[in-house]
Amino acid sequence: MPYFDTAATTKIHPKALQALHDTMRDVYGNPSSLHHVGIEARKLMNQTKAQIAALLGCDKRQLIMTGSGTEANNLAIQGVYQKHPEKRLITSRVEHHASLNTMRYLQSKGADVVILPADEKGRIDIAALSEALTVDTSLVSIIYGNNEVGTLQDLEAIINTVKNSAALIHLDMVQVPLHQAIDFNQLKVDFISLSAHKFHGPRGVGILIANDLASFDRLIHGGKQEYEKRSGTENLAGLVATKVALEEAYKNHTDNVNHSQSLSEYFIQKLNDSGIEYSLNGPQLNDPRLPNILNIGFKDLDAQWLSFELNQHGIYVSLGSACDSSNIEPSHVLKAIHVPEAYIHGSLRFSFGAENTKEDIDMTIDALKTIIEDA
Ligand SMILES: Cc1ncc(COP(=O)(O)O)c(C=O)c1O
Repeated sequence: MPYFDTAATTKIHPKALQALHDTMRDVYGNPSSLHHVGIEARKLMNQTKAQIAALLGCDKRQLIMTGSGTEANNLAIQGVYQKHPEKRLITSRVEHHASLNTMRYLQSKGADVVILPADEKGRIDIAALSEALTVDTSLVSIIYGNNEVGTLQDLEAIINTVKNSAALIHLDMVQVPLHQAIDFNQLKVDFISLSAHKFHGPRGVGILIANDLASFDRLIHGGKQEYEKRSGTENLAGLVATKVALEEAYKNHTDNVNHSQSLSEYFIQKLNDSGIEYSLNGPQLNDPRLPNILNIGFKDLDAQWLSFELNQHGIYVSLGSACDSSNIEPSHVLKAIHVPEAYIHGSLRFSFGAENTKEDIDMTIDALKTIIEDA
């Protein structure tokens, strides 16, 4: 049963699952408690944070554990906004809703928000970024590693453009850790968001790496956890499992990239041979891209119907659309990159993982041929 939806979520790694289970069973103390059981939990938490920080190239005091990637994005964006509500925020039209809708919310409250355009490959317009930057810009928030079409942004150009201003940079790198190591210190940005369930870790663990804890306000008030930037009893078992998943991801980067890239190439080659009319939306195979994401538009077809039919064949993919009651609206990302009308309504995202094989792709192309011929 081909599962081509790793960009939506991944199956937890068996070692991460074991760590989750063992920690929940054995280290059940509250890290804030002052007795032995609590101290044991706090020790494990500090040790695990140090290990995660070493993998991500930051200090452990720069790691804020959140409940999701969405929350990490909100904390960076709303947290900076709250420090400087009069200042400008900049983002792009190809962001995940976790950022874009946060920006739109702040805009509805009166914030000065600029939303940058992108080209047909999903790359944000650097000239527009340069033009939008003012001395009064507080934050530029950009997705590096697009979850819908896979675009990897030109980070050097973004960082060089922003560095002469006082603006902080936030990168949504939620889709990245399976394919690239992240070195926060080397990147020279101010915030990075991550989410464990995108790299075979558990659901419900997000991470915000923040260069300077004084640069943003908290969103969740309460106790002193996470350096008073995110109150709430820590999800220690989730953190330990996240560390294990991250270690496994880092061990397998080369294999993951090569495997996903070869599956992507094979998929396109088989599609070409099949005679099916399609467009590859966003970056092409040799462009900077996440190797595991292909967004394919099927000419004059309906994506919801197509995904339903594929589901009947035991093939699991995501729509390039968002449901709006009875209407299917093409995704904001596909609209932003100007996918032609004939293809935008029939766009599906295929996102590959380590468990997928060429046989899965053969099966999928055969199913697509049957479904489209019978249409
Ligand atoms: C690029 C990107 N950012 C943020 C998120 C939100 O992460 P979470 O599902 O942990 O809230 C996702 C999840 O799809 C994503 O792909």
